[in-house]
Amino acid sequence: NDEQFKNVISHAKEYGFVFQSSEIYDGLSAVYDYGQLGAELKNNIKTYWWKAMVQMHENIVGIDSAIFMHPKIWKASGHVDGFNDPMIDNKDSKKRYRADQLLEDKIARYEKDGKTDKAAKLQADMDEALKSENLQQLKTLIEEHEIACPVSGTKNWTEVRQFNLMFSTQFGAMAEGAEEIYLRPETAQGIFVNFLNVQKSGRMKIPFGIAQIGKAFRNEVIARQFIMRMREFEQMEMQFFVRPGEDKKWFAYWKEARLKWHLALGTSAEKYRYHDHVKLAHYANAATDIEFEFPFGFKEVEGIHSRTDFDLSQHQEFSGKKMQYFDNDLNEEGKPYGNYVPYVIETSIGLDRMFLLTMINAFEEQDLSDGEKQDSRTLLRLHPCLAPVKVAIFPLTKKDGLPEKAREIMNSLKLDFNCVYEEKDAIGKRYRRQDAIGTPFCLTIDHQTLEDDTVTIRHRDTMEQQRIDIKDLQTLIESKTSW
Ligand code: GAP
Repeated sequence: NDEQFKNVISHAKEYGFVFQSSEIYDGLSAVYDYGQLGAELKNNIKTYWWKAMVQMHENIVGIDSAIFMHPKIWKASGHVDGFNDPMIDNKDSKKRYRADQLLEDKIARYEKDGKTDKAAKLQADMDEALKSENLQQLKTLIEEHEIACPVSGTKNWTEVRQFNLMFSTQFGAMAEGAEEIYLRPETAQGIFVNFLNVQKSGRMKIPFGIAQIGKAFRNEVIARQFIMRMREFEQMEMQFFVRPGEDKKWFAYWKEARLKWHLALGTSAEKYRYHDHVKLAHYANAATDIEFEFPFGFKEVEGIHSRTDFDLSQHQEFSGKKMQYFDNDLNEEGKPYGNYVPYVIETSIGLDRMFLLTMINAFEEQDLSDGEKQDSRTLLRLHPCLAPVKVAIFPLTKKDGLPEKAREIMNSLKLDFNCVYEEKDAIGKRYRRQDAIGTPFCLTIDHQTLEDDTVTIRHRDTMEQQRIDIKDLQTLIESKTSW
């Protein structure tokens, strides 16, 4: 599994999906750039989400709010005071660790050694310390369990301190008089603060949703597993505003709807599971994660949270502006529901995690050897709608007017489908290259094409080839690659 994950990472780099940021300067930790094919795949995932959420729901609209926001917003949301990790430094190595992670690693060690009682006791003690934010107790546990720094091997620890995950920067041209503001750690708050703008200007009636795709930033201390945990990443979030009392019903609805979205891509249902939260954040009355089985285990891709009226009420309090909705529908007693602060169900998926999931799920190394000769291919079995390139166009040779004919066909298709043209190397080799980037169709233009206007179309997964009239290409490709 480790091997498979490593192969996906190097494949992503080799073919221009994902590069380490600032690579020629030895990289910037937990920051990545999307290359020429990665940008296409990412855009296609966004389109799939946007169409499913915004275009297919009459009562959901999309916005694009700014990354910079008024600093009070993060006070109101609880991020200034509560969005922390407990950190501890080793005095000898000068390395910083998450205190809870050190303890988690120790628990795993105990379990591995069969000391299950010890593991359970430490787990309970740690949970208790985290819940009561008892930093001294975390330090005591680290000492009692004789946890050593993985780098220096010593147990020479500092106190445990809270470390905020938000990045801050100076807003305004001059350093003096400039105000400290944060890079948003989630896109959701841009939706909450625009709740009434959208509701009024769009004449939205509850229940309705606001969706958004955008960058978020978190100064993650433990950044690892490639694009799984990044310091700059992208979220696709939707806040669904409902009547108080109807939140449980809508939570159940979105829980199911969001898993369906994942499964509609053809991924095996066994790869997914829900993880219902037992311990809830202070603002939530229900929460579940949709987890995918990555090569390193089941991990969260998306969260569905019932956030009550917490965020809107907080903004009402901190801004001094009413965050209420007037509902003139009639309740069971025949009276209007009247004014209230709506409850919110949130769906929040990490775009980069979805990207990683998609790559891992599609990656396949196939052995094509028969009795006589050894052969293999690397295949990205992407859903055709997500494939970065839909059609590759190959003239069989570089002469006899075949390149010109191939260009003519490409010109007729490229407005509708992302196409590539290739005339180098043997056809077999060109097919392999397209298999490796997930291109669902390859077209070969040969001498017969000049006589009867037919081409060979080759299907990625089955490797089947068929002769087809040029005039039928558009319809066939569209039928497989359109949403
Ligand atoms: N508004 C709710 C919210 O932000 P979250 O569980 O903190 O909830 C939602 O984040 C999703 O964002 C996660 O399920 C994950 O897919 C993605 N995500 C969070 N932190 C991330 C990181 N450091 N790198 C990549 N994706 C991340």
